[in-house]
Amino acid sequence: MKQREITSGVLWVGAEDWDRRLFDALIPLPDGTSYNAYLVRGTGKTALLDTVEPSTLQALKAHLEGVKRIDYLVSHHTEQDHSGSIPWVLDRYPEAKLLCSSPAKGMLIDHLCVPEERVCVVEDGESVSLGGKTLRFIYTPWVHWPETMSTYLEEDKILFSCDWFGSHLASTDLFIDGVECVHDPAKRYYAEIMMPFRKIVRQNMDKIRGLDIQMIAPSHGPVYRQPASVIQAYRDWTDDKPHNLVVLPWVSMHGTTARMVEHLVAALAERGVTVHPYNMASADIGKLAMSLVDAATIIIGAPTVHVGPHPAVLDAVVLANALRPKARFASIIGSYGWGGKMPDIIKASMPNLRVELLDQVICRGYPRETDFRALDNLAESVARKHKEIGLA
Ligand code: FEO
Repeated sequence: MKQREITSGVLWVGAEDWDRRLFDALIPLPDGTSYNAYLVRGTGKTALLDTVEPSTLQALKAHLEGVKRIDYLVSHHTEQDHSGSIPWVLDRYPEAKLLCSSPAKGMLIDHLCVPEERVCVVEDGESVSLGGKTLRFIYTPWVHWPETMSTYLEEDKILFSCDWFGSHLASTDLFIDGVECVHDPAKRYYAEIMMPFRKIVRQNMDKIRGLDIQMIAPSHGPVYRQPASVIQAYRDWTDDKPHNLVVLPWVSMHGTTARMVEHLVAALAERGVTVHPYNMASADIGKLAMSLVDAATIIIGAPTVHVGPHPAVLDAVVLANALRPKARFASIIGSYGWGGKMPDIIKASMPNLRVELLDQVICRGYPRETDFRALDNLAESVARKHKEIGLA
């Protein structure tokens, strides 16, 4: 793919990675991804904003073939999918200064072995003029590392936001108009890496509130020409108020827990509560994470294996604990054969969740009438709790 013009003097010089299916050896990428680097040319100077994942360096090299001089290389974020090709750029352009936030300096030296004398720290709010193009740096920590910053291009009103507002989506389309077709990839990305820092992300949203933003150019996925919709989506995702939604990760070995899940899902639906059940034997953890963005209640459905919960469902508990969703309530349902500590182990595995625990329903062997009534009572409690906090 060739260089692509975003606006006069601003070029996309990144790489599309159509086949990548896993990020950080953890996060599923059903739609591939892109590593967006941008070249900004002023009348006097030229800046390159970020680089690309080293495995796609060939694309960046091709884009920069005719570029004789780069004065500034801006590193928004030290994670290697953006910074990994910095050493090549510094080598190719010995005059280039590497601009970064103050927390990033040590990280760039530690992770990429860049020479300290090439690094130039920019302060929060500092500007650099390229001649008719002014780059203003805005510290936006924890989207999603502590050193992350964004750049606002004043004359063109473009916010280069790095991972923030990004989406893992390889596409031939440079721009996205509206948010519909990128909403799910953007939400998946927020859920997987930014949700744990929800309150700080919200502070960052406040920080850009006064900017006139005509475009958002993130480091993954298409450029937003109508950014209001993705900004509004982020406001909803980072808001404290959850939705009238139960997320229910579960697994079953011989059908007992499955029968309980089936009954509870129906009982909740009858009471007007939306449920997203995920069978962890095959679930996409990215979709589970997306549901956790909105859920008011998390209910874990687990059989007992060797005293504790089935490992597949414990993975979901560990994930939820790490992502620190805004959920307000939780419960556990499941079964055992002859004993065990399944519910205690699950509860001990989610210390980060600030939830009120509702009555659990654990049955020995196959559920009987009293167990089904207990599941109805749990559904009733969930519906009532949701109403009490203004949902439904
Ligand atoms: Fe796209 Fe946090 O790297």
